[in-house]
Amino acid sequence: MELRAGQVAVVTGAASGIGLAMARRFAAEGLRVVLADVEEAALDKAAADLRAEGADVHARVADVGVREQVLELAETAYATYGAVHVLCNNAGVGSGAEGRMWEHEPNDWQWAFAVNVWGVFHGIQAFVPRMITSGQPGHVVNTSSADGGVAPLPTASVYAVTKAAVVTMTESLYAHLKAEHARVGASVLFPGPHMLRTGLWESHRNRPARYAKQRPRKTPYRTLGQWEAAMAEAGREVRFTPVEDVAALVVDGIREDRFWMLPAGGHSDAQIRARARSMLERANPSYLESFILD
Ligand SMILES: NC(=O)c1ccc[n+]([C@@H]2O[C@H](COP(=O)([O-])OP(=O)(O)OC[C@H]3O[C@@H](n4cnc5c(N)ncnc54)[C@H](O)[C@@H]3O)[C@@H](O)[C@H]2O)c1
Repeated sequence: MELRAGQVAVVTGAASGIGLAMARRFAAEGLRVVLADVEEAALDKAAADLRAEGADVHARVADVGVREQVLELAETAYATYGAVHVLCNNAGVGSGAEGRMWEHEPNDWQWAFAVNVWGVFHGIQAFVPRMITSGQPGHVVNTSSADGGVAPLPTASVYAVTKAAVVTMTESLYAHLKAEHARVGASVLFPGPHMLRTGLWESHRNRPARYAKQRPRKTPYRTLGQWEAAMAEAGREVRFTPVEDVAALVVDGIREDRFWMLPAGGHSDAQIRARARSMLERANPSYLESFILD
């Protein structure tokens, strides 16, 4: 679709990282932006910063895992700006699960699914009907991850399962929108091709009491800085993708109506091939053996 000044974008998880970069880029394109996030102080700061840069933004605290709050977010967006053209279901968390799958705490699964899967579904239900009936062009961007969305990541299996679900949900959404001859498109976003310096490693900062850890962690949460230091010590190079590149991928992808917002140049193509080959040849998933599971 054509992106034009005055249109309205809604971004969940907009207070930090990729969501904030998308919001900033939409604002730079002249769009009005509804910022939604569960972390109120960070959201207020993000809104203030964008306004200081000249953006027209509306901020709303919303937990995407709670259906009523996402429905209220949609009410607020339409009451404030009268339309929504772009919806980015971007909020996401790492689960904090440790150990083997059979040892995981159910709350790790509940929380990650509430945000990463139900959050996307709630966004679709709250916004898409009105986006379709408006008759105006629109686009939905759901944030997945190559970790799960492209191939499983056994070292972060809960997260990967949720991100695989986002891919299938978005493919289904795409088919449903086509079947309706809607003027609304859909894309699935795989931020990358490399890692991003965002708050994802500190996802537990937003973990609600209803999904609290059920037993103390065996190991403390590792920060991105600590992980980087460990990689450097092991002599392994770590590359990062700037969040602005992801925002550019999204804007270009919306303009070109590209379903797969999958950056070139990463590890993903090899993973896609290896996985597809394994399935087509009915061969066991040897591509998973490269993961060092201690
Ligand atoms: N960082 C990476 O390397 C990477 C790679 C692939 C995909 N992703 C995905 O990108 C998305 C954005 O993550 P990020 O890396 O910018 O991390 P981030 O932590 O910087 O941003 C995520 C935002 O989501 C918000 N959030 C968390 N729970 C929420 C909830 N229940 N309701 C509303 N908002 C909530 C957080 O407060 C935060 O502002 C996520 O879906 C993540 O899974 C990130």
